Amino acid sequence: MQRTLMLIKPDAVKAKSAGGIIGMLEKAGFEIKAAKVFEFDAALCQVFYKDHLAKEFFPRLESFMCSGTSWALILEKENAVCALRELMGDVMPEKRVPGTIRYHYGHGITDNGVHGSDSLENAEREIAIIFR
Ligand code: CMP
Repeated sequence: MQRTLMLIKPDAVKAKSAGGIIGMLEKAGFEIKAAKVFEFDAALCQVFYKDHLAKEFFPRLESFMCSGTSWALILEKENAVCALRELMGDVMPEKRVPGTIRYHYGHGITDNGVHGSDSLENAEREIAIIFR
């Protein structure tokens, strides 16, 4: 069994999509091991997204992530990191396919509804940051 971290981002929380997203996770066989409702501030965003700090889009990402409430979920399943990335769908809106979370609940590139850890190492790092 593997653990991974998922964020339901401010756009999806505001749109009342959290219930629908959790339904998709349960249907796909993920176990929810912990949940937290919280708000990012700039400092937390800079630590959480440290790999993106130097990127051109970081200011937009930071402003979006600090714009409202997020939910964090620790999810468990066999091969959870890859399974969640697959279920979430692509970062690029035009590449999202029906049946993925971002197709149904994401909007643009930045306001894409959800985040999922991209490796086992980052899953443990992100869990430690959010559930500190
Ligand atoms: P997430 O999976 O949380 O990881 C990094 C986030 O940066 C991504 O989702 C988007 O919300 C945001 N982002 C904004 N622009 C881009 C981009 N051009 N490429 C990748 N991520 C982007």
